[in-house]
Amino acid sequence: MLATARRRLFSAQAARWYGRAARDGRFKTLGRGDVERLRAMAAPETVLATEAVGGSADAAELEGFNVDWLSKYRGSSQLVLRPKTTGEVAEILRYCNSERIAVVPQGGNTGLVGGGVPVHDEVVLSLRNMNKVRGFDEVSGILVCDAGCVLEELDNYVAERGYTMPLDLGAKGSCHIGGNVAANAGGIRFLRYGSLHGSVLGLEAVLADGTVLDNISTLRKDNTGYDLKQLFIGSEGTLGVITGVSVVTPRRPSAVNVAVLGVPSYEGVQRAFRLARARCGEVLSAYEFWDASCMGAVLGHQGLKHPLAGEHPFYVLIETSGSNKAHDDEKLAALLEELLESGVVEDGALAQDESQIRRMWSMREGIPESLGRTGPTYKYDVSIPIPVLYDVVGDIARRLEDAGLYRAGDAARPVRLVCGYGHIGDGNLHLNIVADRFEDRITRVFEPFVYEWVASHRGSISAEHGIGQMKRDYLRYSKSPEMIAYMRRIKDVFDPNHILNPYKVL
Ligand code: FAD
Ligand code: MLT
Ligand code: ZN
Repeated sequence: MLATARRRLFSAQAARWYGRAARDGRFKTLGRGDVERLRAMAAPETVLATEAVGGSADAAELEGFNVDWLSKYRGSSQLVLRPKTTGEVAEILRYCNSERIAVVPQGGNTGLVGGGVPVHDEVVLSLRNMNKVRGFDEVSGILVCDAGCVLEELDNYVAERGYTMPLDLGAKGSCHIGGNVAANAGGIRFLRYGSLHGSVLGLEAVLADGTVLDNISTLRKDNTGYDLKQLFIGSEGTLGVITGVSVVTPRRPSAVNVAVLGVPSYEGVQRAFRLARARCGEVLSAYEFWDASCMGAVLGHQGLKHPLAGEHPFYVLIETSGSNKAHDDEKLAALLEELLESGVVEDGALAQDESQIRRMWSMREGIPESLGRTGPTYKYDVSIPIPVLYDVVGDIARRLEDAGLYRAGDAARPVRLVCGYGHIGDGNLHLNIVADRFEDRITRVFEPFVYEWVASHRGSISAEHGIGQMKRDYLRYSKSPEMIAYMRRIKDVFDPNHILNPYKVL
């Protein structure tokens, strides 16, 4: 009882601070009869329904489907369906569409913009039971799999065959390939292998009315009219449910080198990037950076040893991947020497073996989790021209100081950290503000300011995490009214009753 009351209180607070959209009265409130009908469409063990709709699950069992990774967005779905086949997905959607029951497609629920959790009582359609590899061609490296396969498991699968997934990210142990495609995830291999718009060759998607669009091509080249699959890449569950994915995987590099550098200024981070591209261009596979505040959080929470002898304002992780170790070693060593001698970099450490490589990467990949452990985190993932990319971190910190909410090192203030990290090579900054709670008075200091800032530099308000519920009201900062109008028309074509992921994106 107490837990339920607390949850209600939390939901009411959450609804206030992020201006949650009101429930759309056109959607049907789920009844026991609906659940009975839906139960008949999927194996009984794949249905999770609360007592309120005729099931036996405790609300706590649905918690993991109702709350997002950041514990920032919370819905109150009473029903989770975990179908095992595309046919089941089609049958479920056909019914929901005819009854105007709203549905949220959900992958690994690692999204960071509240896109994969319900806003109100939408049915959660989880893809986690659709997790089979359908085929792998060892000559072309083309993988065909169910959408619910976990990214890391796919990477292990293709690694055994000499290949690598073209994307990698900190959430790889939980996120699904279908969720990656729906979010058009970027990640740490983007610099080398580019966007999913290039490496996804085909998709199988189920539309709101149950139509199965079978476009699971394994062809590298196909110029037969409109490339419909591209619309689903980054559609965040608003156009259809992705059930199958075909992706081209590159050969796994046999020689990988990683170094962490200590850099005195953001100017130095850029200069080192230019030199890295000039000297190691053809083998450079990642160039990531983070600031001293991120480093403090990681060292405090991940139990890792500092890789360098002292502190630095900025850190860079540089990775080379190729097929000739001696060649790559020589190039990276020459680059590091030049960076140190010129003073662009103050210190550097080169990983000596596989376990040191893993430790250096876990330092970078552990930043989101470490910040989350420091406190509730407001996250922005923006694309900004590289020369001014870090300026926004200072501007936001000053605004918070002026508002009396933040002073570096003052733990008594509501805001604990203002920090930046990201994929420099892709022009993608992750601006994070860590506070003691999520609340309006804090958000108002940097929203819509941060979006105005980005728009004034012709950047994008989302480089990789998407729009979800978090940025729904700010899409206009990155898309013109004409483009938004056409996005709405596309939504009407694929999902005329708007049952798929309502209250998100548009
Ligand atoms: P979910 O969170 O479940 O869903 C994401 C969106 O896709 C939602 O709108 C949902 O409705 C929709 N969706 C999910 N599955 C389907 C489907 N089968 N059909 C249709 N729609 C679907 N993102 C990056 O781009 N780069 C990073 O480096 C990165 N690092 C991360 C590190 C951490 C620690 C965390 C927690 C997140 C990170 N993310 C990153 C954010 C996130 O986008 C990715 O983790 C991932 O792409 C989401 O996949 P998921 O399966 O968890 O999707
Ligand atoms: C990352 O690059 O670590 C991810 O996009 C997650 C984040 O922004 O925290
Ligand atoms: Zn990222």
